[in-house]
Amino acid sequence: MSEPRQILVTSALPYANGSIHLGHMLEYIQTDMWVRFQKLRGNQCIYVCADDAHGSAIMLRAEKEGITPEQLIANVQAEHSSDFADFLVDFDNFHSTHSEENRELSGLIYSRLREAGHIATRSVTQYFDPEKGMFLADRFIKGTCPKCAAEDQYGDNCEKCGATYAPTELKNPKSAISGATPVLRDSQHFFFKLPDFQAMLQQWTRSGTLQDAVANKLAEWLDSGLQEWDISRDAPYFGFEIPGEPGKYFYVWLDAPIGYMASFKNLCARRPELDFDAFWNEGSKAELYHFIGKDIVNFHALFWPAMLEGAGFRKPTAVNVHGYLTVNGAKMSKSRGTFIKARTYLDHLQPEYLRYYYAAKLGRGVDDLDLNLEDFVQKVNSDLVGKVVNIASRCAGFIHKGNEGVMVAGDAAPDLTEAFLAAAPSIADAYEGRDFGRAMREIMALADRANAWIADKAPWSLAKQEGKQEEVQAICAQGVNLFRQLVIFLKPVLPVLAADAEAFLNVAPLTWNDHLSRLENHTLNPFKALMSRIEPAKVEAMVAASKEDLLATEAKAPAGNGELAKDPLSAEIEFDTFAAVDLRVALIVKAEAVPGADKLLQLTLDIGDEHRNVFSGIKSAYPDPSKLEGRLTMMVANLKPRKMRFGVSEGMVMAAGPGGEEIYLLSPDSGAKPGQRIK
Ligand code: 2FM
Ligand code: ZN
Repeated sequence: MSEPRQILVTSALPYANGSIHLGHMLEYIQTDMWVRFQKLRGNQCIYVCADDAHGSAIMLRAEKEGITPEQLIANVQAEHSSDFADFLVDFDNFHSTHSEENRELSGLIYSRLREAGHIATRSVTQYFDPEKGMFLADRFIKGTCPKCAAEDQYGDNCEKCGATYAPTELKNPKSAISGATPVLRDSQHFFFKLPDFQAMLQQWTRSGTLQDAVANKLAEWLDSGLQEWDISRDAPYFGFEIPGEPGKYFYVWLDAPIGYMASFKNLCARRPELDFDAFWNEGSKAELYHFIGKDIVNFHALFWPAMLEGAGFRKPTAVNVHGYLTVNGAKMSKSRGTFIKARTYLDHLQPEYLRYYYAAKLGRGVDDLDLNLEDFVQKVNSDLVGKVVNIASRCAGFIHKGNEGVMVAGDAAPDLTEAFLAAAPSIADAYEGRDFGRAMREIMALADRANAWIADKAPWSLAKQEGKQEEVQAICAQGVNLFRQLVIFLKPVLPVLAADAEAFLNVAPLTWNDHLSRLENHTLNPFKALMSRIEPAKVEAMVAASKEDLLATEAKAPAGNGELAKDPLSAEIEFDTFAAVDLRVALIVKAEAVPGADKLLQLTLDIGDEHRNVFSGIKSAYPDPSKLEGRLTMMVANLKPRKMRFGVSEGMVMAAGPGGEEIYLLSPDSGAKPGQRIK
């Protein structure tokens, strides 16, 4: 037996300002399956991750929500952690880049780079928002395209004509944060001298660390010459202040990958058998793998290895890149309900269905992966329920009925036993090489053979015949042994199915090498259904709920909460999204103050065929609510009902204005009838 390997594995750190969706989940599931495979094989494999908590987007989002960045990232970390746990993604540690370990390591790496002469400083001229008092990243500047004159374009490229330009070329630039006209201002910036590492990177990117397609892409950048990388941002910024440089902060992408180290360091404090230096020092024998999406290759395969090399740490063994997720053949779409949050999925479906589907479709390459929802239902039902679980459910009953649950000894199908043993090394190779699709195909081919053999032997017919009991027992014991081997092969993908199967089989947690042995003269526990079929209605409900998620987010600014001004950061919506909003003329039948609520009025609205109860934050503008009674307004009638402290709100009325006394309820022209829809 070879020595167990020491392996440290990471997935990209999710930003701490948004929910995890099924696109993110592809990477975490891919990584988790690989890690579970390594653990099953007996290797020491550690899987760490963290929230990526820094940057101006997080600072601004917290500000908008009226909370501190620390509160925001704590809330998001709780949400992310439970999403991952419920998808059976089993991190050894899930930390945050806003941590003491990360502050120290970022400071250490920076100071080593500086001492080695890899840091440069120079003045940079950038747009500055005089109202907000901050420098503006390109995506926070909007204006008229210098090439095609399209309005409302971002600071670095035009969505209309595709032109790229410097923000200073934009006509009539405006800050997307405050709306102010930005001014040009100089400031000292810190740069990481990436060109110092050109030769190392030429060699490293071609040394088997990357998939060919990725190495080829990087060669284009490497061949055209590397640029120095701007690693500082001016205050106000949510991040780590650069030691000795007041008012200057590390750019979020500088400390994000260091977050991998920091999360591991945090884990080392709890797990004395882990030695931080043994994993990270130059010359380390441990293996280090990063799983990432193809959009962040430059950070992981250029900047990061260069930073590590410059600071005297080891470089990654490999960076494993995957493609994007599409749903039903297209980019995930909020209006089509295919932008599915992890939690929305979990509200309707079991995590292992998706884990299996992703496994079946994941290869070694960087191609995009399509989650086709019809195929998903069909494949999971046919493979997992129809093939794998079916073997156990067909055999278990006869063993319980005919032999008190005891599996008899003896090999009733030596050819099959041989085929299962012979397939194991190839399945293991496929897992090791991240070719999960091939592993699943080989496993399902074995399941097909097992089912065909059982169907051919038809123990259910034999059981009805005199004197065939011994044969029935031999067939069913063989069937359960084959099922047990399939469970071992599938365990990295389906840990819950494996645990339930272990309970039925009455065995300790299975490891990879257990496939070499078989159960004989062994007593089973009663069989319980191990997995149920996906009902297509559940998938439909998930898609419908994803559309509702969208409406809820877009309508989050109810009348009177001071959020009515156009949100300059909000994205455009598709026509379908707009069309999905049921806007109706509503007659205010009753309007009353809500005892105990400062800002709310309770409205009873007549929308033609029914009455609705709506709470609206417009009290400051309508101190005498009875004046509203009898008046027409507009309401969103298909907003998901919201449980509030005072009751359920069944929709939302529409108003404009900055808030306070300046809230103006919208009204249709006279002649409109309650219940009429916006066309
Ligand atoms: O692209 C992203 O979502 C980043 N938050 C990934 C960071 S990965 C690592 F470098 F921290
Ligand atoms: Zn343009």
